[in-house]
Amino acid sequence: MTVPVLTIDGPSGAGKGTISRLVAKKLGWNYLDSGSIYRSLAIALLQQTVDLSDEAAIVKVAETMDLAFECGDELIVKLNGVDITAQLGLETTGNTASIIAVLPEVRQALLQKQQNFRQSPGLVADGRDMGTVVFPDATSKVFLTASAEERARRRYKQLKEKGIDANLSSLTLDIEERDRRDSERATAPLAMAENALYIDSSNMSIDAVIEEVLNLIR
Ligand code: C5P
Repeated sequence: MTVPVLTIDGPSGAGKGTISRLVAKKLGWNYLDSGSIYRSLAIALLQQTVDLSDEAAIVKVAETMDLAFECGDELIVKLNGVDITAQLGLETTGNTASIIAVLPEVRQALLQKQQNFRQSPGLVADGRDMGTVVFPDATSKVFLTASAEERARRRYKQLKEKGIDANLSSLTLDIEERDRRDSERATAPLAMAENALYIDSSNMSIDAVIEEVLNLIR
């Protein structure tokens, strides 16, 4: 029997991580934060000062990096045995991830790493192309979005809570720029899967979104 998958795709800051983690917990399923795989690769490349226009060199790092995920209340990620969790959320990490994510061979090199998360009793996978490319046969698909302003506001609040200095207007510009790059790239662009449920969470509580997603599974 194939393992059921719920995919939650959408732009940066739409709340996919929060919703996916909570839904996975409620269902007792595994959780894949695919963005963290792109982010981990970005960290590896920055550490090794790899030229971000050298696709072959990036693929080599993608194929050889050793990633370990520990999913407790907080996701802990180890790159080649070293805890990189604190660097995952940095803006430079996210921006670098989005730059290398346009490269088709890099996406191909990360495909199997993502599909390996499909383990019994089920998987909640969050990203940009979960329902369209990585798990096209997923049982249930959601496209979760919110306005760019609302997403920037949420990100601002998150960073402030972590004691990281942030500027709302530059966050909004960053988010719009990342949306554009993610949507316009030729390979696996951010797009809604044909049979996905569309949810705009701009004016919704977390509980209300979770309820809609669980209804889909039921
Ligand atoms: O979701 P998150 O913000 O962590 O992702 C960081 C970047 O990785 C995104 O801006 C996107 O460019 C890329 N990404 C992707 N495909 C995914 C997940 C993330 O291209 N499935």
